[in-house]
Formats: sequence, structure tokens, C-alpha cells
Amino acid sequence: MDLRPFRQSDIPPLLTWFQTPAELVQWGGPARTFPLDEAQMLALLAETQGAHPARRIWAGDRRGTLAAIASVVDGRQGTALLTMVGIAPAARGEGLAAPFIAQVLKAVFPDPAIERLELNVYTFNAAAIRLYDALGFVREGVRRSLARVGEERWDAVHYSMLRAEYRDVP
Ligand SMILES: CC(C)(COP(=O)(O)OP(=O)(O)OC[C@H]1O[C@@H](n2cnc3c(N)ncnc32)[C@H](O)[C@@H]1OP(=O)(O)O)[C@@H](O)C(=O)NCCC(=O)NCCS
Repeated sequence: MDLRPFRQSDIPPLLTWFQTPAELVQWGGPARTFPLDEAQMLALLAETQGAHPARRIWAGDRRGTLAAIASVVDGRQGTALLTMVGIAPAARGEGLAAPFIAQVLKAVFPDPAIERLELNVYTFNAAAIRLYDALGFVREGVRRSLARVGEERWDAVHYSMLRAEYRDVP
């Protein structure tokens, strides 16, 4: 699955991936509003424009259908945030996530401005935690009660990878 820029025509299939507020927060964090809609995604796409975009969004296709998404937000002082990591529901459990995110890392770390890539993953998200451990992200700790979802509050594991720790996985 090759990495390519996420585009406007990817929005309709992406919107079908999240059936509940919990699924949306698990993927995109508490900043997204359920139901995810075109306006929210167009606003995020707008952040990818320009010579020095604040955000990059990548996609991957399987058999001509959107199967993967991930975004990196450039922060200050060389710290970037990996977010919106997702595999299409019909394509999960096939081992697509690790090679896809490995390509994202390969796209991010050649930028000498990025020294650290960090992410949050909710503590119950076993598949995502296995993914980030396998890719070599380092667990820094648990951010307690980070997000509110309905009546619940969710803890998140905070992970990072430093430029010096990045290894190109063939
Ligand atoms: C998280 C996500 C990207 C992982 O992709 P996936 O296709 O489901 O998972 P993969 O098939 O690539 O497997 C990843 C690892 O998790 C394991 N795994 C998969 N489902 C699992 C589950 N329910 N419980 C425990 N481990 C699981 C796999 O065995 C694999 O580990 P291994 O390589 O050691 O065998 C995908 O499930 C997803 O999009 N989830 C919804 C959005 C989300 O949670 N995004 C992450 C935000 S941080």
C-alpha cells in the first residue's frame, strides 16, 4: 500500500468509518465532532496547503479503495504529532497498519526540522499499542483522564520517537 496525499475525493469513504462518537474519538481524538462531516475534513485539508503546511495527511489504497489514513501536525521546536491513524474497517486485522505507518515515518524524518514525533493512544486500544511498540515508538507514560467520551473518561499512553531512534524499516 503506497503512501499518497489524502484528497477531497477520499472524504466520502472516510466518513463511513466512524459509526459512534467513541469510534471517532479513538481515531481522531476529542477535537473531532461526531458525526465526522465533509466540512471538518475540508478544514483539515486546508491546513495541508501552502509552502510550509501546518499539517500533512496521507492516504493508502487497497484494490482502488481508501484503506488507510494518517496525519502529522508540525509543532514547535521540532516536535510533531502523529494523529488520525486509521485503517478502513473492512481492511483491519491484515497487518496493513505497520507498513503504512513505516512509510509515514520515512516521509517525516528526512525533514531535518523534525526531531521528535509523538502520539497518544487510548489505553484500551490493543491493536494500536502493538503497532506503535512494533514500530519502535517509546512509551513515555500514561496521560490520565485525557478525553471525555459520553459518561466515560479515557486514559491515553503517550509515545514518542526521536530522530536518533528512527530506523528505516525495509
Ligand atoms: C489501530 C489500527 C490502525 C490497527 O490496524 P489493524 O489493521 O487493525 O491492525 P494490524 O492487523 O495491522 O495489527 C496490528 C497488531 O495488533 C494486533 N491486533 C490486532 N487486533 C487486535 C486486538 N483486537 N487485540 C489485540 N491485538 C490486536 C495484531 O495481531 C498486530 O500485532 P502483531 O503484528 O504483533 O501480530 C486499526 O485497528 C484502526 O484503524 N483502528 C481504529 C482507529 C484507531 O484506533 N486508530 C489508532 C489511533 S491511536
